[in-house]
Amino acid sequence: MKNNMSDTHNKSKRNSPLEMSPDEFRVAGHKLIDDIADFLGGLPEAPVTTGEPPSKIRNFIGADRELPVKGANPAELLESVTKDLFEHSLFNGHPNFLGYITSSAAPIGALAETLAATVNPNVGGWTLSPVATEIELQSIRWIAELIGYNTDCGGVLVSGGNMANVVGFLVGRRVKAGWDIQKHGLRHADARQLRVYVSAETHTWVYKAADMCGLGSESIRWIPTDESLRMDLSALEKQINADLEAGDKPMMVVGTAGSVSTGVVDPLTAIGAICKKYDLWFHADGAYGAFAAALPESPEGICEIVGADSIALDPHKWLYAPIEAGCALVRDADLMRETFSYHPPYYKFDAIDGEELTSLVDFSPQNTRGFKALKVWLALQQAGRDGYREMISTDISLAERLFQKVKETPELEALTRHLSITTFRYVPLGLPADYPERIKYLDELNSELVSRLQRSEEVFVSNAIVRGVYALRSCVVNFRTDESNIDAIPEIVVRIGHEVDSEMRP
Ligand SMILES: Cc1ncc(COP(=O)(O)O)c(C=O)c1O
Repeated sequence: MKNNMSDTHNKSKRNSPLEMSPDEFRVAGHKLIDDIADFLGGLPEAPVTTGEPPSKIRNFIGADRELPVKGANPAELLESVTKDLFEHSLFNGHPNFLGYITSSAAPIGALAETLAATVNPNVGGWTLSPVATEIELQSIRWIAELIGYNTDCGGVLVSGGNMANVVGFLVGRRVKAGWDIQKHGLRHADARQLRVYVSAETHTWVYKAADMCGLGSESIRWIPTDESLRMDLSALEKQINADLEAGDKPMMVVGTAGSVSTGVVDPLTAIGAICKKYDLWFHADGAYGAFAAALPESPEGICEIVGADSIALDPHKWLYAPIEAGCALVRDADLMRETFSYHPPYYKFDAIDGEELTSLVDFSPQNTRGFKALKVWLALQQAGRDGYREMISTDISLAERLFQKVKETPELEALTRHLSITTFRYVPLGLPADYPERIKYLDELNSELVSRLQRSEEVFVSNAIVRGVYALRSCVVNFRTDESNIDAIPEIVVRIGHEVDSEMRP
């Protein structure tokens, strides 16, 4: 097939090298969709990953090729890259992918991405994206409704959890700094050292946020956790009071609603009460856990997240949207708009026929914005609230099941289970209690075990440090995983663990 413009449907006179005639598009697209459908059908039987090293991957994509001077046939390009991707990728949609917090992606999201890219709206300005903006605004309302938050909140879709947290951080900083920080930055007669309080289990986004917002990472107060890995509230209050006495300006407390390592949820209502008492912004990082608030039983007290002034939550985690899709919600939409809204002369996003309109450029640091909302909006409708409740609660039940299976396996030590994250480790049965440097040995053994499992093609888990111990970590945010996948894990881990132990301790 040739990439030319001779097709009679195409009215353009320009023979642009990037154009595809409708027929060319149709043929290439049908082939692609057929290949995707076959791939999805065969996914459970395929390996989770081939575990190939970087050199091999670079080799077959021809990483050292020079930039092509002449163009190529788009259908052939697509066919070739489809094959490469399907044969050499790690598939987080595979039922045995239980690593990190990367969910299986709803197939409707794959179709949505194609449609979104075809219309290609710029969802920064309403005028540039009339339907897309309204779809995003509705998605925001539905997300808020799903977790029980006020539906007139401000909200915006962003790239992921990190950026959603940064958005909440920026709003909180502006509102609570105590001087006009947008105008004067951190240099102002009234400026004081701003302080942010987070639990020791908080994700690394907070370093980046403190840096990007000009506070510096030393502004972060890492509050220790209690036995259950939740923020220690008396330590929190003690630190706030110490900072006040030192003349600092406490600004924000971050409650983690599903920690990255173990899924622990901080005592959110109590944190909210402390924020009220000291006039601090209450931000909740629910990047992973927030959608569990859709469940009537509110596991781990997650529904208390609705007390937060701002929330980060990721549709590309527990709404199973294809990457990327994060979301920031702010209870008071005006505070969010005031943080990001500027009115340059070169944009004209005025009311139409006297009707007010919302331009999402006013709700985040981004300007040109893609149509991330379509995949989220479609999935929310395909599954509905009940469908999401069913998928999320099944993921949690599977994590509980794994915890139980691990407990029943003599060579495995169960450590934690919160939301859909289970942590455990392999402890060889014959390992003497007085084995030299036993703790260090078990950490190294389990670290090597994680590496082997990740290349094993059998099951993909990740790692965590739990109370100082190196652990294997399974996180089920995967609507394809079922009981048979979970039940197979102990045997795989013990078998490979035994191999590793035999090599490390011959
Ligand atoms: C609690 C928490 N916060 C923030 C993030 C960062 O999210 P993202 O990777 O989507 O930026 C993660 C990622 O796993 C997370 O678990």
